[in-house]
Formats: sequence, C-alpha cells, structure tokens
Amino acid sequence: MDDNANYLKAVRNQYEGYPYPPRVPEDERHRRLRTGLCELPQLNHYGHAGRQGFEGYHALVAGGGTGDATVFLAEQLHERGGRVVHLDLSTASMEVAKQRCAVRGLTNVEWVHGSLLDLPQMGLGPFDHINCCGVLHHLADPDQGLAALRAVLRDDGSMGIMLYGRYAREGVYQMQALLRLLNQGETDMDACVRTARATLGAVPASNWYKFGEKLFSDVWKFGDPGIYDLLLHSQDRAYTVPQLYDYVEKQGMRLVAFGRPLDRMWLTPGFSIREPRLLQRLNNLPERDRQAAMEIFTGTAIKHSFYVSPRTDSVASLDDLDNVPFLYGFAGDDPNRVIADFFQKAKGKGVTLKDQDFSYPVQPQAHSHHILRHMDGTRTTAEIFEAVRAATGDQRLTDPVLLKDFRPVYEQFNQVDHMLLRHKTARPLPPLRQQIPGDGGEG
Ligand SMILES: C[S@@+](CC[C@H](N)C(=O)[O-])C[C@H]1O[C@@H](n2cnc3c(N)ncnc32)[C@H](O)[C@@H]1O
Repeated sequence: MDDNANYLKAVRNQYEGYPYPPRVPEDERHRRLRTGLCELPQLNHYGHAGRQGFEGYHALVAGGGTGDATVFLAEQLHERGGRVVHLDLSTASMEVAKQRCAVRGLTNVEWVHGSLLDLPQMGLGPFDHINCCGVLHHLADPDQGLAALRAVLRDDGSMGIMLYGRYAREGVYQMQALLRLLNQGETDMDACVRTARATLGAVPASNWYKFGEKLFSDVWKFGDPGIYDLLLHSQDRAYTVPQLYDYVEKQGMRLVAFGRPLDRMWLTPGFSIREPRLLQRLNNLPERDRQAAMEIFTGTAIKHSFYVSPRTDSVASLDDLDNVPFLYGFAGDDPNRVIADFFQKAKGKGVTLKDQDFSYPVQPQAHSHHILRHMDGTRTTAEIFEAVRAATGDQRLTDPVLLKDFRPVYEQFNQVDHMLLRHKTARPLPPLRQQIPGDGGEG
C-alpha cells in the first residue's frame, strides 16, 4: 500500500495497535452478533424499495475493523450467493475479522487491505450496499470519503453509515483536549492509556466528561482499545442532525431514515414529551428543525446511524398494493394472530406494545384486527384486503377504504421496524438464526 496515501498514519497506527472493537474469534462458536444497519429485510425496505431478492448481492464493508458487520452480512448472504468485500487500513483488525469468518465457515468474503479513499481506483465495485460505521469521521476529509464510497455504489444501491453525534460527545472532546495536554511528547500508546486511566480516576464530578460518562460504554466494555478509541483518538469529528443531512446531500444522495428504532423515537416529540406547549411548538416545526431540536433536547445521541440512497424512491411504499407487509422482530409464533386478538379485545382503545428495549402506543383502527389476522408474510396488501372482504362479506371495504384504515397502524409499527414491506417479486428471506444484539462500540 502506498505510504503517501491520503489517510492519516496515526489513525492506521492506532488500529494496528488496538484493533477495534476488540473481539475474540473463538466467541463465534457460541454467540452471533446482530449489528445495526445490516439486517437484510431492513436494507430491502429502506434501500431497495422492497424489490431486492439478495441473489448474488455484492456488499462492501468499508473500514470493517474486526468484522462485526462483515460476519453478520456474510452470514445472511451466503445462502443466496451474496458476497462481502471487507476493506480496512489495519492488518491487525482484518486478521481478527478473518479468523471470525473462518470459525464460522464463511467463505463469501474478500479481504482487501487499503484505504477507502482509493476505492474509485481499486476496481472492486459496483456494490449493492456499503456499510461504513465509525470510519468516515476519522478521515482528514470526510466529504472525500463519502464521495469515494458513492463512486463505487450502484445507482440503485444503499448505504448504512454511522457518524458521531456532536452534542452528546461534548464531554468526550473536553477529555480528549485534556489528555492531549497531559500526553504531550508521549509516543507510547500504552503510556497514553495509563495517563488516561489515572485521569479518569481523579477527575471531579464537575468535569464535563464525568457528567455524561454513563452514555459511553467503551471504557468499561472494551478496556484499553476502548479508552484509546474514545479519548485518545488522533482524529475524529462529530455531526449534528442538520450537518448529517448536508453531508449526505453534498454527494447528491439522501438520508433516507435513521437506522435504530430508538433513535427514531427520540427524534419524535410525541414519544417522550407530554408538556402541551412544548409539544405543539415542536410539532409545528419543519421535520429537520424538529429533529435538530430533539437532538439537543434529548442530549443522548452519541452516534447517528442512518440509511443513505442516491434515489428518491428507495423506501418501500404502502401505496404499492403489490408489496407484502410483514411483522418483524417479534418473538414467538404467530405474532400477527396474537396482535390481531389483542386489537380485537381493545375494542378501539389505544394499546401499548412492548419490546425488550421500549414500549410504544398503537391506536387500532376499525379493521386492524382483520388486516393483522390475514397478514401472514406471504400475502400482498391487495391479497390481504381481498381476504378481509371475503371474511367479513363486506364489499364496501374497497382497497382505498382499507388502505386508509391500515395506514396509521402501519406507520406506528413501521416507525420501530416492527412492520416492513417487500415486493411480491422479491423472494422472502429465511428468519434469522438465533442472534444476540451486537454490543458494538461507540465507533
Ligand atoms: C472505529 S473502527 C470501526 C470498525 C467497524 N466499522 C465497526 O463498526 O465495528 C474504524 C475502522 O476504520 C478503519 N479505517 C480508518 N480509516 C480508514 C480508511 N481511510 N480506509 C479504510 N479503513 C479505515 C480503521 O482501521 C478501523 O478498523
């Protein structure tokens, strides 16, 4: 690799010394990590208008590190002949990722040592999907990085990106500044970590990092590599929500949706705010201003994960009645029947659905329980509506009438990814084998 390359040498040295996030390949024998922005049904819904069958799918994990996204994508794609390119600057990190794939018997990964900035010249694309999490904010010029990714993305492709969040990391930047002062002239990485540990143990509660410390799991979860990545990094920057939109749009693309349901919830005032005046003021704002306000109001967004597309129509639409709506992420058999019964018993009252991480309100409509009952993951919306008419014998329930009834419930489920769409022409995906949610680092 060219030593005059346009990445920062210090960044490479860091990840050679401290591969991140630290992973033990043997752990693959007893656990499977499920990383955000990588689940195929969601990629299909947000990035491919539901029309992707994933046969021969070609994904790039740019700055793949120790392999979380690579392993998870390769695992989901191998049965469909899909392939993953894992690209990283750090040979030490890539070695960990290779061993993880070897333990899992995954052979559909190509390993490339290099800088993502050189992608346009590498002859590797074009890709259907690019995952780039916790990487672009470490470049000297993040715009150049996103442009390089766009150059190798198909026009109907999608991206999953994670960048740091500005406000919630305020204390991190103050701690970084403090440690830069204390570590002046020190080149040994371990010595810098020792100084950081001593400092963290001594700072008073009034210190700004100490204030927000509980937002950051890196220090206790990942030890020295976590401390280095969070507090001693030679190069990182962070983004506010409006800056994210600008960053993506500068490259002629669109921020399609935030990736984590929890993020979408904290960006939506109605989920957490009851104070009527505040709620009204927030809801009167244009969407981006509302999201910008909620980022500051909530104060917890240490990172932003989001889907990006070059297209304006990449999200599957409920208006296309040839799409198949399906419930997603519910444990247990027959969730549609269980929820249909629950709705029927509610007799028009609002209900609260609970997930392991959060709960959210759903307002069942007049025909919701019928629609849910016929939503078996194979029927299109048109076929579900036909089944509802047959079951009720009510021919006044035309498609437009039922669509109007279905939409608010669909939107409430979809906001947290509990309902997604795929087009009838796209082969359904097998359910995910047992996976535990990824304990990904802060990036
Ligand atoms: C914080 S780690 C994130 C790893 C992985 N994406 C994850 O989320 O688990 C950042 C990774 O990006 C890699 N990296 C940084 N700059 C890069 C560049 N210009 N080209 C390719 N990889 C890069 C580093 O070597 C490191 O492995």
